[in-house]
Amino acid sequence: MRQVILDLEESKIREVANAGIGRSDVLAFWFGEGDEVTPDFVRQAAIDSLQKGETFYSHNLGLPELRAAIALHLSRLHGTVAPDRIAVTSGGVNALMIAMQALLEAGDEVAIVTPVWPNLTAQPLILGARLKPIPLKPVSGAWTLDLEALLAAVTPATKVLILNAPSNPTGWTLTRAEQQRILDHCRQTGTWIVADEVYSQLYYESDTPNGCAPSFLDIASSEDRLVVVHSFSKSFLMTGWRLGWLVLPSAITHDVGKLIEFNTSCASVFTQRAGVAALQRAGEITPRVVAHLKTCRDTLVPLLQALPGVELAKPAAGMYAFFRLAGHDDSLATAKRLVREAGLGLAPGEAFVPEAQGWLRWCFASRDPQRLVLGVERLRKWLGSK
Ligand SMILES: Cc1ncc(COP(=O)(O)O)c(C=O)c1O
Repeated sequence: MRQVILDLEESKIREVANAGIGRSDVLAFWFGEGDEVTPDFVRQAAIDSLQKGETFYSHNLGLPELRAAIALHLSRLHGTVAPDRIAVTSGGVNALMIAMQALLEAGDEVAIVTPVWPNLTAQPLILGARLKPIPLKPVSGAWTLDLEALLAAVTPATKVLILNAPSNPTGWTLTRAEQQRILDHCRQTGTWIVADEVYSQLYYESDTPNGCAPSFLDIASSEDRLVVVHSFSKSFLMTGWRLGWLVLPSAITHDVGKLIEFNTSCASVFTQRAGVAALQRAGEITPRVVAHLKTCRDTLVPLLQALPGVELAKPAAGMYAFFRLAGHDDSLATAKRLVREAGLGLAPGEAFVPEAQGWLRWCFASRDPQRLVLGVERLRKWLGSK
């Protein structure tokens, strides 16, 4: 076994969840998914596909209908994106791994803004690349980018810059002006940008014309060294389906198809049919999901902010409240105690970067916002009993 695999850290979120095994009374907000099932018409499309006998492989890059539907969806939001730039993948995490495999050699330098979802740091390490973290700094609970520090860190020696904005776990988003400076800079250094934009539609501000967080697709050309990663998981309530996609410069799409052959060969066809149905009626899913998540955020955040010792800024995007709990600096130990002593399941900050010790992530995607109120009540009581 390769040493790098032996050295991979087990998920600290799983470690906390394991502490709650067998406890049906725990209110769990640790994982990054909601508790609402995929809409009926999407599930029906998959059932119809199976009934029709669509049990075979598809093209490596996905069904032409799905690639066209994705391209249309993106074109409506960001301006023209051609279907020949789309590669369908088996989930966002698979899309990311394929992007990394396509771009990285062992020993390459990868700059990455942290704190960040641990898969984004593990994947380059698995491929033998070297990480150069660019840390956000908390300012009154809001994780903030020092743009000049990022530009200084990305040099011609930097093969890939990974940006997850809107971010899991911090909710940090890039402004349009920051994106433009970063894109201009990476054009100079020859650095590839891998933009993980799976949360871009879960945006609660009203300062963009398309309602999404600023996207590199709004400003980049089809020939830029830019790979954008997307997923059906979050904006279409489809985490378990494992369906995502990549937006690529058209010149590399064909070769990425070869790489997909050696990973998964293709996403399953009935799942892709579900993806087509989801996109065709996206207007019936995503706006409702976003409105509901906004209600959840606006329920949870003020209640948490009112607790003594909590440092939290309202996130503009995503589905997480990432907060510091003063006096509880070992976040893994705190999260485990919260499960055992309060029946409350949160993710420890150190799962996302060691410097987020003392922070906790609360996924607020809850069908019933009252669960969030109940959860805060449990936290309040637990803090009071310390
Ligand atoms: C930042 C980020 N990127 C990508 C993904 C991948 O999602 P999926 O593999 O479910 O499409 C996730 C899932 O939590 C995520 O948080």
